[in-house]
Amino acid sequence: MTATIIDGRTVAARVLESVRARVAVLHARDVRPALAFVLVGESAPARLYARRIERQAQPLGIELRPVQLPADLTREQLDQTVWDLSQDESVDGILVQMPLPERIGDADLSELIDPRKDVDGITIQNAGRLYLEMPGQFPSTALAMIELLDAYDVDPRGKDVVVVGRSKVVGHPLAELLIRRDATVTVAHRRTRDLGRHTRHADIVLVAAGQPNLITGDMLKPGVVVIDAGMNPTAEGVVGDVDFEAARQVACAVTPVPGGVGPVTNAVLLRNLVQSAEWRHA
Ligand SMILES: NC(=O)c1ccc[n+]([C@@H]2O[C@H](COP(=O)([O-])OP(=O)(O)OC[C@H]3O[C@@H](n4cnc5c(N)ncnc54)[C@H](OP(=O)(O)O)[C@@H]3O)[C@@H](O)[C@H]2O)c1
Repeated sequence: MTATIIDGRTVAARVLESVRARVAVLHARDVRPALAFVLVGESAPARLYARRIERQAQPLGIELRPVQLPADLTREQLDQTVWDLSQDESVDGILVQMPLPERIGDADLSELIDPRKDVDGITIQNAGRLYLEMPGQFPSTALAMIELLDAYDVDPRGKDVVVVGRSKVVGHPLAELLIRRDATVTVAHRRTRDLGRHTRHADIVLVAAGQPNLITGDMLKPGVVVIDAGMNPTAEGVVGDVDFEAARQVACAVTPVPGGVGPVTNAVLLRNLVQSAEWRHA
């Protein structure tokens, strides 16, 4: 079997078209959606990411406002900046570059960001809304992985699904979204014994572990659908968590890296921003 290659760029373009239409409606009401992106210190990948988002946002009529903070700032200064952006009426969404410098630690911003501006679903309110199956803002990578399933008519209802990774920003919210969609979900992590024993039985495998070649061809059931969020820099470029060449011989559909989850995540982030602007200016 040779798998269908799931084309994230095409799916992202469709998401962005819907964003464009919603932004036009906001513009007609004199609302100009703005996303504040807080960057701490000099991080080339973070700046590159900000530029990429800006390139997508600008033609749609969304303003990206980078907020560059010095590397030696204190935790209090960061908190104050995020708090000020939460109070700023002209800002619709707030994104904070992760990971933050080690000195600042794994800053818990979940109580500082206005939940209506929480475009990546990190606040306690939005996490609760996800768990309680209420409308809210949810992490864009997790939403993007579901978007890819939907775009290729892969319905998780009743399916055996394995999510590899349980991070707060990807794996865990993804598992919640899949439960909402009536999947039978297994969540694997570093302490999982014999990962392949789980993945080999799965109809759908979604991976967000940050480990190149974690999922090999022999760990997959023939006909499986594989969604790979992994983004691992190597000498040969960015690779995912799945051995793509092996997976495409076994799976019925698989995402490439790059060109799979990544572009859809960016598009979904902008869709979340527009959602925030619509809620704030309802
Ligand atoms: N495409 C995108 O737009 C996008 C967006 C965000 C992230 N990513 C990528 O997705 C990957 C994961 O990101 P993250 O932020 O979720 O990372 P993270 O916070 O480091 O979490 C990784 C998760 O994977 C699990 N894991 C790691 N090694 C494993 C192994 N050998 N077997 C089973 N589980 C394992 C960890 O288990 P424990 O909990 O036990 O430690 C953890 O739950 C990274 O490559 C990241 O670059 C991509």
